[in-house]
Amino acid sequence: CRQPMIAPSILSADFARLAEETAAVRGADWLHVDVMDAHFVPNLTLGLPVVQSLLKATDIPIDCHLMIEDPDRWAIGYAEAGAYNVTVHVEAAKDPITLAKNLKAAGAKAGLSVKPGTPLEPYLEVLKHYDTLLVMSVEPGFGGQSFMPEVLDKVRTARRLVDTGHLTLVVEIDGGINDDTIEAAAEAGVDCFVAGSAVYGAQDPAAAVSALRAKAAA
Ligand code: DX5
Ligand code: ZN
Repeated sequence: CRQPMIAPSILSADFARLAEETAAVRGADWLHVDVMDAHFVPNLTLGLPVVQSLLKATDIPIDCHLMIEDPDRWAIGYAEAGAYNVTVHVEAAKDPITLAKNLKAAGAKAGLSVKPGTPLEPYLEVLKHYDTLLVMSVEPGFGGQSFMPEVLDKVRTARRLVDTGHLTLVVEIDGGINDDTIEAAAEAGVDCFVAGSAVYGAQDPAAAVSALRAKAAA
């Protein structure tokens, strides 16, 4: 049986206290870092210099979610800096297979993300080159939005392709994951759950991580 992983998203943390906010989720499996460029999504967050500082501030593997245009150019820097997993959007990547090869050559896991309206079927060959599939369960850009259950069909498809040996992927979900939604996502076959507001909005973020993990495993 799969051991569920929880990836707190620091998008919902206090950006003036990132080292402390990272320490507050000790025990998390991955630390999810949302990079937004105000072009691919209508919001602007942080970039490589902040990720480089975070890498020095924590031992938690860093999961970079790049919501940016031209990841073919920019993603490699995050892999070279030492991010554990670097995820790019299939809607933005020009040559996603070369991009995956470059990320892996730089020592990172390669992740591919799909927005809620983007189907998986055209990308099954591309996904053979990736280590992680990040299924967006909200429109990317902001924390605190409501979970879109219709994306769970894509999770089920990915789960089946992994379990039958056609793909080798960590199936990750991002957006609206909380105590009320995590069980449905777990049942559909998610391995790794991103949670921003559900973790950083809690009184005790580390306890929220444990509670989410327990619910996903139930
Ligand atoms: C949204 C980001 C998410 C965000 C999730 O575009 O990719 O990682 O932090 O936040 P919640 O868990 O609050 O929906
Ligand atoms: Zn994200």
